[in-house]
Amino acid sequence: MEKNRKISSNSSLEILLREDLDAIRLNLVHLARKAADHAYAPYSNFRVGAAVVLEDGQTFWANNQENICFPVGVCAERILLGYTHANFPHLKPEILVIAALKSDNTGLATVTPCGLCRQSISEFEMKFKAPIEILMCRPDETLLRAEGIDQLLPYKFEDLNR
Ligand code: THU
Repeated sequence: MEKNRKISSNSSLEILLREDLDAIRLNLVHLARKAADHAYAPYSNFRVGAAVVLEDGQTFWANNQENICFPVGVCAERILLGYTHANFPHLKPEILVIAALKSDNTGLATVTPCGLCRQSISEFEMKFKAPIEILMCRPDETLLRAEGIDQLLPYKFEDLNR
């Protein structure tokens, strides 16, 4: 039995300013914001866009797709990573950017990936044995940066036989 009967996690998110972003990240932010504009979110009115760069430099984007039967709707991140993995199963996703728009169209909303999306991102980190950097846009134009899914999903489910 361990002495200190506590397991703790010290996950952290970095706050980035726009000027901290290089050209690749700036482009992903632009693509995610543009993708959010075209989200199909007539039920929640919460439009989310996501953009990713794969290890060969290709960029892709997607947005949330809702359904009148609410649970059928799918988040932007899972549509995007599902698409890239379906078409480029050997290319590692390297950086994922997420942006959401306020329902009254007055600018960016705060967004972090939902639990299902965190688990899905974790799957691709496991498959490619490498972290996926996650950048989350904020209303004040700063961004939150998670260096990998561990920062958003500590104690994640990853080993069926442990
Ligand atoms: N949504 C995303 O697309 N990604 C997230 O990370 C959070 C939530 C979507 C799901 C639903 O269409 C709407 O936002 C409101 O929850």
